[in-house]
Amino acid sequence: MIRAVKGTHDLLGTALAYHRTVVEATRRWAEAAGAEEIATPIFEHTEVFERGVGQTTDIVQKEMFSFTDRGGRSLTLRPEGTAGVVRAYLEHGMKVWPQPVRLWYAGPMFRAERPQKGRQRQFHQTGYEVIGAAEPEVDAEAVALSWRILESLGLRGLTLKLGSVGDPADRERYNAYLRERLEPHAERLSEDSRRRLQTNPMRILDSKAPPDRELLTELRVRPMLDFLGDAARQHFEAVQARLRALGVPFEVDPAIVRGLDYYVRSSWEIHHDRLGAQSALGGGGRYDGLSELLGGPPAPGVGWALGVERVALAMQAEGLSPVPAPGLDLYVVPLEPELVPRALEAAAAFWPELRAQYALKARKPGKGLQEAEKKGARYAALLGPDEAAAGKLTVKDLKTGEQRTLSPEEVKEWIRGGTA
Ligand code: HAM
Repeated sequence: MIRAVKGTHDLLGTALAYHRTVVEATRRWAEAAGAEEIATPIFEHTEVFERGVGQTTDIVQKEMFSFTDRGGRSLTLRPEGTAGVVRAYLEHGMKVWPQPVRLWYAGPMFRAERPQKGRQRQFHQTGYEVIGAAEPEVDAEAVALSWRILESLGLRGLTLKLGSVGDPADRERYNAYLRERLEPHAERLSEDSRRRLQTNPMRILDSKAPPDRELLTELRVRPMLDFLGDAARQHFEAVQARLRALGVPFEVDPAIVRGLDYYVRSSWEIHHDRLGAQSALGGGGRYDGLSELLGGPPAPGVGWALGVERVALAMQAEGLSPVPAPGLDLYVVPLEPELVPRALEAAAAFWPELRAQYALKARKPGKGLQEAEKKGARYAALLGPDEAAAGKLTVKDLKTGEQRTLSPEEVKEWIRGGTA
C-alpha cells in the first residue's frame, strides 16, 4: 500500500474541522481589520526565499524543497508566505494602491525538517501582512490581531513574547560584539555555530546544541535589546505602549531570535504552555528591507503567521472543540429499486438550499431510517410508490420523531424553519 510521504498528513474529519476553525477565525478577524485575501503560488523562484528569508538561515540552508524545472530553473516549494506576498505586492504594483496594503492568506508551507509532534514537512499557516507603513501602530495592530484570534478560539495557555531585533546597523554592532565575545572560545562551539560565527553570529543564539548553550550562559552574552539604536528603541517603546492601550498582555523577550533574516525592529512569538518543544503557535515581525531584497523600492512591512496544526494541538490540549462541519440535512430513501433514479432527482432538487443525499439501493423503511441516522442526517425522506405518484416525500425528523408527507417545496420550508 502506498502511504502519504513522511511528514505530510491528510486532513479529514476532526483534523479538518480544527483546520477550518483556525482558517475561518483568521478570515473573520483579518477581514474585520480591513485585509484582503491573497493566494500566492505554492512554488516560487528559489531566489525569492534565498534573498528574502536569507542565505544564512536554517530554512534556506537545509530545509527547502527545491527542484529544477524542465527549463533548468531552480524552483522551491514555499517554506513560508511573506516573501511570496511581498513579491506579489511588487509584481502587481500595489505600491500605488492606498497604503498600507493589508493582506491575509492561508495555505500549505513546506520545510524539510525532522518530523515530530507539532512539526511536519507540509504544514499550514494563516498569515497577515501590512505592507507600506512603518508606524508602530501597525506593529501593534498586527500583534493584537494574532493574539485576539488565538484568544477567540478559547485558548488560555498563551504567552506573547515581544522583542526587537533592531535596525540593520544595530544588528551589525551586535554581531560584531558576539564575534568578539565568542571567537576566543570558537573551538567549544558546535560545528554549525562555528560556521555561523563567520556568516551570522546572531543565529548562534538560536542553537539547541548543548555546548553552544553552555558557552552562551557561561559568557553571559548580552541580549540584542541592549544594542538597539535610538530609532529602534523609540519604535519598540511605542509598540509596547500601543499594545498596553489595546489591552494585549505581553512579555518583553530581550533575546528573541527568529528563524528568518528579513526581520528588523519588532519581532514576536506566541507560545502555548502545553505543547512541549514546538510551543510556538505563531510568530511575526517587521521586515522593512524585504522589498528591496527582492529588487523593489522601499516598502516597509509587518506581519505574522500562525501554524494551523499547532493551534489545533493547543486547542485539543485545552479540550476545545472545533466548529463541526455541517452535517446532512436530508437523506432520501427509495423503497423500491425502480425509485432509485427518483431519489436522485428528489435529492438534487434540494441543492444547494439543503444538504441532501440519497440511497443507491432500495431499503425497507426501518433500515432506511437507520442508514439516515448513520449518515448523520437530521431528516430522512421515504420515497415509496404512493409518494412518487403524488410527487411527495414522507419526511421524518430524526430528532423529534415527527413525520409529515410533504411536497418538495413544503419539505424545504419545514427543514429551513426547523434548522433556523
Ligand atoms: P515562522 O515563525 O517561521 O514565521 O512560522 C510561523 C509559525 O508556523 C510557527 O510559529 C509555527 O507555529 C508554524 N510552523 C513553522 N514550521 C513548522 C513546521 N515544520 N511544522 C508545523 N508548524 C510549523 C514565518 O513563517 C513568517 N513568514 C511569519 C511572518 C509573517 N513574519 C512576517 N510576516
